[in-house]
Amino acid sequence: MKASYIEKHGGPEVLIYGDLPDPEPAAGEIIVDIHAATVNGADWKVRAGGTYGEIENFPYVLGRDFSGVVAALGEGVDDFAVGDPVFGVCAQGQEGTYAEKIAMDASIVCAKPNSMSHIEAACLSLTGLTALISVEDTLELKSGETILIQGGAGGVAGFAIELAKHLGANVITTASTGNVDYVKSLGADQVIDYTKEDFTEVVSDVDCVFETVGGPVNAKSFEVVKSGGRVASIASGPKAPASPRDDVASLRPAVGRDRPHLERIVELFEAGAVHAPPVTTFSLQDAGEAHRISEGRHLKGKLVFEVR
Ligand SMILES: NC(=O)c1ccc[n+]([C@@H]2O[C@H](COP(=O)([O-])OP(=O)(O)OC[C@H]3O[C@@H](n4cnc5c(N)ncnc54)[C@H](OP(=O)(O)O)[C@@H]3O)[C@@H](O)[C@H]2O)c1
Repeated sequence: MKASYIEKHGGPEVLIYGDLPDPEPAAGEIIVDIHAATVNGADWKVRAGGTYGEIENFPYVLGRDFSGVVAALGEGVDDFAVGDPVFGVCAQGQEGTYAEKIAMDASIVCAKPNSMSHIEAACLSLTGLTALISVEDTLELKSGETILIQGGAGGVAGFAIELAKHLGANVITTASTGNVDYVKSLGADQVIDYTKEDFTEVVSDVDCVFETVGGPVNAKSFEVVKSGGRVASIASGPKAPASPRDDVASLRPAVGRDRPHLERIVELFEAGAVHAPPVTTFSLQDAGEAHRISEGRHLKGKLVFEVR
């Protein structure tokens, strides 16, 4: 199969496009012919090495989400048939969707409805799981609460804005000038252009923050939460950052992989509550360029590999 892979850690230039052996299904697995996969912030952190540790076995294929078609069944798989459209996210610790094929644990894969294209399904899978687990499961956002979503134009945050509105919350978000209209179109009630205003001067006493930017934005986010409130952070490492306040909880969503959350994404999509974000498409040969853009940290929506 063709794949985009790395032989060592480094910059975007270490991504190589070439041939790797086709995967074989173990018991309980399916082989998926991948149609679309996306770039997530974690991909270039893994490529660079450091944040997520060092890879020991090269060649290594990056990529965590996919949409495609079942091409083969391992022993014991009876909930899918060859030819079924499916989408999902790799198991914890597994990567490899920048490729034409992948072996996946069938139990964490979801049937893709015809109402969703492969590109839409790939875009909504890891970002959707992350946003759902952060907003519904971790922050337990309730109707009538006010949430500040940092970095509204990003893939995860965009899903979170739509989800929070669907749940009946009041949504404040931050974005750069060029993305203000975009985040308004997602339903945000108040948008702070962080290039012109310091959010700590215009926001106070929110019930919770979903923090997807990291760095100084994370530390400052605790200042604008009411006593008893909570901050969920996904861009400040694998553990919750220490809360600078005794009266504000700091939470790190545990983004697991399971079919029920993917089914919830389908339900929200089919109800019109969430939509796929704007996409920029690439072929697998151009993975290095896609990483350069993602690493620039000023995306609107998602970068997608159209694999077939
Ligand atoms: N993708 C996932 O499912 C996932 C899962 C777990 C953790 N994470 C982590 O979560 C973070 C976000 O991921 P993502 O894939 O959603 O990111 P993304 O699509 O790359 O978006 C990043 C966004 O941050 C915004 N931004 C940059 N600096 C900002 C600032 N100072 N204030 C407000 N917004 C700012 C940018 O918008 P502007 O151009 O408007 O600045 C951009 O849209 C990453 O660190 C990633 O590793 C992601």
